[in-house]
Amino acid sequence: MTPPASPLSPPVIAVDGPSGVGKGMVTRWLAHALGWHRLDSGALYRILALAAQRAGIGHEQQEAVAALAPGLEIRFAGTTEADEAILVNGEDWTAQVRSEATGGLASRIASAPAVRAALLQRQRDFRQAPGLVADGRDMGTVVFPDARLKIFLEASAEARAERRWRQLSQAGVDAKLLDLCAEVRARDERDRKRAIAPLAPAADAIVVDSTQMKPDEVLAEIGRLLRVCGIAP
Ligand code: C5P
Repeated sequence: MTPPASPLSPPVIAVDGPSGVGKGMVTRWLAHALGWHRLDSGALYRILALAAQRAGIGHEQQEAVAALAPGLEIRFAGTTEADEAILVNGEDWTAQVRSEATGGLASRIASAPAVRAALLQRQRDFRQAPGLVADGRDMGTVVFPDARLKIFLEASAEARAERRWRQLSQAGVDAKLLDLCAEVRARDERDRKRAIAPLAPAADAIVVDSTQMKPDEVLAEIGRLLRVCGIAP
């Protein structure tokens, strides 16, 4: 059920898009520039997927996976990618949460209605003054349909796989570009075609295609959209 939009609720900027499109960079920059909170909704799906794996629960057992959500005490620390720490029940899960394998597991549990329902209120609880920048797949369509600004970031699967490959290479990780491209396509397919909350721009979202853009050009465009919407950093 969509909650009624209240003029008293803190404002939300929703940034949705496929994996590897640069939502993390954009939402971190926005949260910093505006001094707003940030929700990394993908991390919640990743954490729940890992918790299920640790408990020996298969991704197809959706009710059992969903039942784990209330027992997870989650804390996000740090503001940049480099100093990020994800603590779950007091334990540091950062590296595992960020792995490619966990991203794949998360996208499998994310197609289950019970799992999405279990995480819905938890995501809405991040909406606190002075405002929230929300990063995900369904921020503008399902979780915050009354967001003040909805941005949908796009980029071709090839461009996203290449960016990821560069990141991994710089970190000394030997990854195959073709494998990454196949993973990106498989995850896209699952996220865009699922029956519930499929990855798609909200009707009132502004689509920014970054395939041919450098990171600073993307941020300049987002800054322009903020000014157009009267949201001042
Ligand atoms: O964004 P990230 O790559 O961390 O998300 C991992 C997976 O979690 C996605 O592939 C997607 O299937 C799922 N997800 C989702 N809805 C969100 C955020 C993530 O279904 N709002």
